[in-house]
Amino acid sequence: MATARQITALLKSHSKGDEEAFKTVALQIAANEARKGHSHLAAQIQKIISGSHARQIPGGASEAKSVVQPIVFSRPEGELGNLLEIVETKVRLSHMVLEDSLRERLRRIVREQKSFNQLREHGLFPRQRILLMGPPGCGKTMTASALSGEMGMPLFVVRLDALFTKFLGETAAKLRLIFEAIEKSRGIFLFDEFDSLGLARGSQHDVAEMRRVLNTFLVLIENMKGHSMVIAASNHPDSLDSALFRRFDDLIQYGMPQVEELESLIKNRIAGMKKSKIAWSRVRPLFGGLSYADAARIADEAMKEMIINGSPVLKTENLIVAINERKSFRNK
Ligand SMILES: Nc1ncnc2c1ncn2[C@@H]1O[C@H](COP(=O)(O)OP(=O)(O)OP(=O)(O)O)[C@@H](O)[C@H]1O
Ligand SMILES: [Mg+2]
Repeated sequence: MATARQITALLKSHSKGDEEAFKTVALQIAANEARKGHSHLAAQIQKIISGSHARQIPGGASEAKSVVQPIVFSRPEGELGNLLEIVETKVRLSHMVLEDSLRERLRRIVREQKSFNQLREHGLFPRQRILLMGPPGCGKTMTASALSGEMGMPLFVVRLDALFTKFLGETAAKLRLIFEAIEKSRGIFLFDEFDSLGLARGSQHDVAEMRRVLNTFLVLIENMKGHSMVIAASNHPDSLDSALFRRFDDLIQYGMPQVEELESLIKNRIAGMKKSKIAWSRVRPLFGGLSYADAARIADEAMKEMIINGSPVLKTENLIVAINERKSFRNK
């Protein structure tokens, strides 16, 4: 039978509307049952879970409840198909560990999008052009997925490798093609690793052709129409051209996580695991310099280690080893 901890984790994820966490815990229960030889029950759980893909968990948190129906869209074809990658996502803002003010700003973007028509009736526009800035592994790309999940809008990631071919002269034309799609459809268009496009004019890497590409982008984003949202994500806002900033409706800065945020990310991630009492007072002092992405990886590595060693519970030591490994890996 599922342990009390697993049942609690299952109920918590259900009440938060966190479908991913719900499934993870359910699959952990299935794995436990299979290990005990209850293969019929394990198979039954797996079957139920794999059939739950297409729907939301009813009665979830307000974020999950307010999800609009997914927008029907056609897959881009031809040249556009090369330039845009569709990413299917079930991520929600509730899956993210975020500082309160940041969570509120992201919720506001969702609320404005959902009130698109009312705002337009009054000649107003929702925030449609968002620049996310901050160090690696702090949730910029994840935010684009979460906004897509919250708004039920498909996420199109612009493939920069296809945008910048060796014939740079084609890049401006390709950008125009992307903005035509942005105006014709309704989706979230993510320019991830935006620095390569937004590099300041006059910087030491400035090339005449790149300057033309940036100018084209500035014009296109300024005149953008329609219902879509453009999100750009940058690790190096200092190197971005200053003319870019005023083209965006919202500039959102991400920071490195605090100790409490790292702890809560790890706790969320290991929620479904059987654990001995984790001595957080030994774990916390090791957190210095870690990003959210590091913490997610540390939790996963610790759980893998526990499973591979056939240990019945996750221990403080598993986390400490995973943190030290991650830090030495990063220092290489
Ligand atoms: N705020 C967060 N809450 C929960 N998990 C997070 C958060 N930020 C990052 N993660 C975890 O780290 C992974 C990587 O994060 P993400 O790709 O969003 O970082 P990024 O800011 O886009 O980094 P980069 O600048 O390197 O592209 C996510 O898939 C998720 O597992
Ligand atoms: Mg990213």
